[in-house]
Amino acid sequence: MPYEERIIDQVQSANEIVEILSQYVPLKKSGRNFKGLCPFHQEKTPSFMVHPEKQIFHCFGCGAGGDVFSFLMRYENLSFPEALRQLAEKAHIALPEASEGKGAKSGETEQFYEIYRFAAEYYHQQFLDPQKGKQAREYFLKRGFDMALAGEFRIGWASERWQDLFIFLSKKGFSEALLLKSGLVFQSAKRTLCDLFRARLLFPIHNLQGKVVAFGGRVIDDQGSPKYLNSPENPIFYKRRELFGLNWAKKFIDREHPRLLIVEGYFGFLRLYQAGFRACVATLGTSLTDSHVQLLHRFAEEAIMVYDGDKAGESASLRGLEVFLEEAVSVKIARLPQGLDPDDFIQEKGKEAFQKILADARDFMDYKLEILLGRFNRSDSFGLMKITQEFLETLVKIKNPVLLGHSLRRLSASLGVEENSLRSELEKLKRKVEGAAAGRLSQKKDPQPSSSLMPSDEMILLALAVEQNKWRAILLEELEAADFTDPQLRAFFQMLRNLEEERLPIHRYQILNRLEDEQFKEKWAAVTALDWAGEQQEKAFEDCLRKLKKKRIERRLENLRREIAQAEREGDLTRVDIYIKEYQDIWKESK
Ligand code: UTP
Ligand code: MN
Repeated sequence: MPYEERIIDQVQSANEIVEILSQYVPLKKSGRNFKGLCPFHQEKTPSFMVHPEKQIFHCFGCGAGGDVFSFLMRYENLSFPEALRQLAEKAHIALPEASEGKGAKSGETEQFYEIYRFAAEYYHQQFLDPQKGKQAREYFLKRGFDMALAGEFRIGWASERWQDLFIFLSKKGFSEALLLKSGLVFQSAKRTLCDLFRARLLFPIHNLQGKVVAFGGRVIDDQGSPKYLNSPENPIFYKRRELFGLNWAKKFIDREHPRLLIVEGYFGFLRLYQAGFRACVATLGTSLTDSHVQLLHRFAEEAIMVYDGDKAGESASLRGLEVFLEEAVSVKIARLPQGLDPDDFIQEKGKEAFQKILADARDFMDYKLEILLGRFNRSDSFGLMKITQEFLETLVKIKNPVLLGHSLRRLSASLGVEENSLRSELEKLKRKVEGAAAGRLSQKKDPQPSSSLMPSDEMILLALAVEQNKWRAILLEELEAADFTDPQLRAFFQMLRNLEEERLPIHRYQILNRLEDEQFKEKWAAVTALDWAGEQQEKAFEDCLRKLKKKRIERRLENLRREIAQAEREGDLTRVDIYIKEYQDIWKESK
């Protein structure tokens, strides 16, 4: 962790969660807590809760949750250091620079934003320059766009020359080290610094705050290769988080029917925007990640993938779409005729025809089922099995029970298979998937079956131990790290123990500051957000503790059984006797 925990705690204490979050979300008091419409998914009745005592937020609708840092990271699409920096600034706390290398100066992130802001303006001016930008403008206009659009998206031009941008930015006072790190210049074989983009038309990529963080650059003579070059990742640009055009699209999303179109390219985006389809984003030449979908989900309930005509029908491309189901966003596929992308299509056939393509978009599930039915024969038992299996593998990712029920009914109807037997197959598959996931996390046997909805006993115990000192004392007294099968929780327990041993004072809610994994924080917040009555808590604590202790005994017995079998195989009867005695003692004690 680049920042000291002390600083993180300090920044957090200075940023009261209700105060900060209400700058983004209108919140109303509700008992001891605050309530509002969740900014991370579309909803009409509030299920977004903020708990001032615990300094966490949690949405009962979509499961988003965490502390004030998590909120800002999600809301503004920031990394942890960026969120920390913003909150520190709000509270006028000076951050010591993160200890990553000596060259780091304070406000480095801000400097990268500055570099990209200057670069975008420089390239845009080059594009507008009567002589220098002539070729580029001609290309842009020839493709059927106009100068107003170029102005709105700050389309740029990087000349053929090797050092134009480098010289321009150096004169602004940015160091070579910083420019190199920005990715806009690179070191040539002769060790001189050169511009990354040369002879390319540039699409600036804006983040959600409207700041330029990268560029996509296209050659204009179709000679150079590759056709497109994108900025490399840099301290303000993470590919897996950004979507081209979202900063525009978010203003045009229909509130009643919040949906977003997703296209594959910059020009497709521009064409759609020009034609009035403005709730649209483009992927940056990469596949969609879960971060992308989480981001989309804040603005839309539904996504329509507008695939280029050449790729449609590829079941390989469908696989990537399952990430939507995991985030409970419904997704449709719009298919364009062979050989056309959205840009070509609208140029050739017009907007009305495109509107029709959208209206005909197929639901992802239907689409997948259709493909499977085409690939296997449902009237022979092998075919039926394959279809069911592959389809269930998709269904297993659906989090939303309504959507799941709907899809199961449809599958049952089109295959003529009982819905109940599909359900039980699905349950089996679910257990297998979860077993495998738990197995990856922990080497131990009998891992806690971790359902995404129900917090584990281990999690509940630890959450309660953070809540009350008396429970923490009991837990530290009666359990040891090895009793926790989930590695993250085991580490968490160990951390509690260390804090206790070092007698470090720690605010209850600052425990979250010691966690680095946002997903874990989210689950943690979900448990912490439970408002149960005192005796319920008492009962839950005792229950979970008993279960964990029981498991420990089972593990010991299991080990002994193994030892006994081993000793028997080796014919060592003395050892067998000792172990059996021990086994009986433990067994009696546990009764
Ligand atoms: P396409 O090859 O479909 O390009 O790539 P396009 O958007 O239709 O552009 P034109 O019409 O040929 O000018 C789709 C997207 O994939 C990424 C770019 O984001 C592009 O817009 N891509 C493509 C790359 O990143 N690198 C490449 O070499 C090609
Ligand atoms: Mn194209």
